Amino acid sequence: MPSLVVANWKMNPKTIKEAKKLFAGIAAGSKNIKKAQMAVCPPSVFLSSLAGSSKKIKMGAQNCYWEEKGAFTGEISLAQIASLGCEYVLVGHSERRKIFGETDESANKKLLAVLALGLTPILCVGETEQEKEDGGTFEVLKVQLEKGLEKVAKKVVNKIVLAYEPVWAIGTGKVCEAAQAEEVCIFIKKLICKKYGRTAANQAQILYGGSVRSDNVLRFVKDAQMSGVLVGGASLDAKEFIKIAKEIDF
Ligand code: PGA
Repeated sequence: MPSLVVANWKMNPKTIKEAKKLFAGIAAGSKNIKKAQMAVCPPSVFLSSLAGSSKKIKMGAQNCYWEEKGAFTGEISLAQIASLGCEYVLVGHSERRKIFGETDESANKKLLAVLALGLTPILCVGETEQEKEDGGTFEVLKVQLEKGLEKVAKKVVNKIVLAYEPVWAIGTGKVCEAAQAEEVCIFIKKLICKKYGRTAANQAQILYGGSVRSDNVLRFVKDAQMSGVLVGGASLDAKEFIKIAKEIDF
């Protein structure tokens, strides 16, 4: 399976003009990317203006609500996201958990709803600095994964992309060592194997996220054998984002 490189712009581009310029830069650079699959998750208000403007770059939403429709002021439904041609939806990002009170339970409801519409959820999991210091990394991941994947049927489990994003590495410039990323990757595969069998574990797509740049991306995708990366800060610079994709263009 080719590498997957996902941009998470968060709430950064200030105007539609800025977002279009950044997207155009990435789209232009993507012409030199042969194998890696690229996706961009812009702020949701910009999705409809950007969707469809590049054949090569898939679109993703940063968040969603699980209900089909109705009186949920400010929320965005999956049918709305799907109607724009989006393919990916981030679920359970640590900023959603920490700042907006998202739980494993709400992440699970979103994940199931994303799958029900045939889209691909990117379920984000990861430990905080404190949890890491306390030696709790694997316990935290186990709970987040088991709760996040609750009621997911075996036949759709390979539609899910998992992203290991240690919270202490997000936006901090602190990067996870290859050995830890690899250990986590193996741990996640074992958990998938236990729950869904060996084939599912072998096919699981596991991304790394947290201060990824072009000069450290190979550590995750080559050394730690992960399937790709979820990129925040570095995806706001089209040239750097393309450089990241180029490094793992296999
Ligand atoms: P970062 O963000 O690359 O800026 O650390 C990653 C993420 O939050 O997905």
